[in-house]
Amino acid sequence: MRAIEQVSAMQAWSREARRRDGARIALVPTMGALHDGHLSLVEIARRHADVVVTSVFVNPMQFDRADDFARYPRDLEHDGGLLAAAGVDVLFAPDAKEMYPDAAETVVTVDRLSEPLCGAHRPGHFRGVATVVLKLFNIVQPHVAVFGEKDYQQLALIRRMVRDLHLDIDVVGAPIVREADGLAMSSRNRHLDRDERAAATCLARALGAAEECVAAGERDAAAIVAAATAELAREPRARVEYVAAVHPETLRPLVRLRQLTVPAVHRERRSA
Ligand code: PAJ
Repeated sequence: MRAIEQVSAMQAWSREARRRDGARIALVPTMGALHDGHLSLVEIARRHADVVVTSVFVNPMQFDRADDFARYPRDLEHDGGLLAAAGVDVLFAPDAKEMYPDAAETVVTVDRLSEPLCGAHRPGHFRGVATVVLKLFNIVQPHVAVFGEKDYQQLALIRRMVRDLHLDIDVVGAPIVREADGLAMSSRNRHLDRDERAAATCLARALGAAEECVAAGERDAAAIVAAATAELAREPRARVEYVAAVHPETLRPLVRLRQLTVPAVHRERRSA
């Protein structure tokens, strides 16, 4: 595995891979502190391309709180070992000066999709995400890029940015990888102490309650949201930011569920 830190070196590598080898390039953007969720994206990327580039960059622009940025777990050496073992061809790990050499005049805002849900609680977050992902696309020049459904709003917004800006990149969505007790894997889980870690399972139980409600035939969005909210209310340590039933592309609130699952074209099914 090659490790690259410079933007110009990464661009040159991709240019050569495309020109000399006619290679199809996949990109898996991450902020590091890698876990099996990230590695599942690498595996999917390998199935879609000849070479896989994984970026590790803790993007200051997408943090709305300085303490969250300062505390974000970083372990590049360990990440490098995991990525090499997973068969990644290039680890692109620039520093902040390399990615943001000047105070940026140009930013990317995906208007409506940035506003609701997590966007309402993290001002500027999705502008930071869209901006850094477009930069990474321009640096790595991938044919395909893989993003997890765990960050569903991010995935929807990037699909929309690719469509709006006519980027010639296939965006592949990857299923959520969970711990045995249902908690979605996340780099920030390591901030949780034992009690908080136990309490966090209320998220998976709340989604399970909503799922059961739908399986029992309920189609009224408010009733489904109420079932999930009631489950969260049983956990005294949980503070709810939002629970919502939304359209999978527009993220607009639904009144009734018509289609039960995200259409198959939007999902990457993991082989058994
Ligand atoms: P990060 O949180 O490191 O996640 C990198 C990618 O891994 C994202 O596409 C995310 O959805 C996916 N991912 C994380 N945990 C997952 C899990 N348990 N199952 C499946 N996929 C999972 O998301 C970001 O970084 C950043 O916003 C980034 C896109 C890199 C831009 O800075």
